[in-house]
Amino acid sequence: MTPGKPKRAARATPARAQGPGIELLRRLQEGHAFNPSPRHDQLYAVHVPYDELTGGSSCEAALERALRQGRRVALVGASGTGKSSVTEHVLGPLVEGLAPLRVPVTMERTGIATDPVEFARHLVALVGRWVDVALPQRSRDAADLAPARRGPATHKVSVAPTWMETKVELAYELSQAAALDAPTSTQVVEQARGLLDLIRGDELVPVVVLDDTDRWLSTSWQPDNPGVRAAFFGRVVRVLAEELDVAAVVAVHPTYLTDADYQASAGFLDTTLHVPQVPDAAAVGRILHRRTADDLGEERDDLISPEALQVLFEHYRHAPNVRRRLLLIANAALTLAVDAGADRIERNHCIAAITQENLVD
Ligand SMILES: Nc1ncnc2c1ncn2[C@@H]1O[C@H](COP(=O)(O)OP(=O)(O)OP(=O)(O)O)[C@@H](O)[C@H]1O
Ligand SMILES: [Mg+2]
Repeated sequence: MTPGKPKRAARATPARAQGPGIELLRRLQEGHAFNPSPRHDQLYAVHVPYDELTGGSSCEAALERALRQGRRVALVGASGTGKSSVTEHVLGPLVEGLAPLRVPVTMERTGIATDPVEFARHLVALVGRWVDVALPQRSRDAADLAPARRGPATHKVSVAPTWMETKVELAYELSQAAALDAPTSTQVVEQARGLLDLIRGDELVPVVVLDDTDRWLSTSWQPDNPGVRAAFFGRVVRVLAEELDVAAVVAVHPTYLTDADYQASAGFLDTTLHVPQVPDAAAVGRILHRRTADDLGEERDDLISPEALQVLFEHYRHAPNVRRRLLLIANAALTLAVDAGADRIERNHCIAAITQENLVD
């Protein structure tokens, strides 16, 4: 998969191999087709909805419905199971009527995750920065009117949401509202609420996306993970509900579910959805075939043998983690197949890739 390159739409009916498979496998390898961790803004392009894989409607459809109703959703799944992928699919660039506001919290100051006022200030500052990116000249004019509130206009650290780029008037209004002075805590929260109201006024449902909260479990940089988690679920989530009344999707690690602090936030996160498991080898195939479309110009289903898919599925089934137990292994199996001059990825390539990975462990 080539970074930055827009994905082509997948063909409905996969074609049979026409040229030598080895050439195609080489192209997949060069394009890093089975990249286990694509850039966030590319996740939507390779996502195969769990609702399609399982034949249900409890994942993507349920998330979209809940967000359109203004709910705050806990999206539960262990690391690598697809929380970000599902979120990006539902809130991807083509979504209509929803305005995602992706708010990183774990890499920022601790206060942002623990103090509702700091969180609101962070939200306002982010919107201001996105406007800088979306509307550089207009935003700079607005900043000139209120220089005390705004940092340097050249401080472009984030990518503006797609909806903002298409809503020029709204972005301009947001830039002005975000640049106002808000010296007290109450004013900061009011300012954040004002920005959300402006978005609603344009017939969009603002959706706060908190996709990195599950990292509190595993990071060592944050010495007081449980304390941060407690304050986040106890205070920040509460403000999202009671003060900002905004739809949200929060990535939640399953181990949080038994955590008293998380349970205390239950009334504020009003919907819980679980990312389903990939159900069978055919579904593994669909996920991998989707990733061939970008490099080969069409989706191919003949470059991985059914037996190889079964091996991948069995490996995944024992510890469901799409990133680590499917894509990482498929990626290594692709390299082994290319090195062996094979026409397609076979069972033995997957077994050897799993053995290699176990040795690393
Ligand atoms: N349904 C799916 N279709 C295609 N790819 C998927 C699907 N589910 C997961 N993936 C892929 O699996 C990998 C891990 O997914 P993702 O990053 O969404 O996991 P996560 O639950 O957010 O993990 P973390 O908790 O570590 O952030 C990504 O490469 C993603 O593209
Ligand atoms: Mg994630």
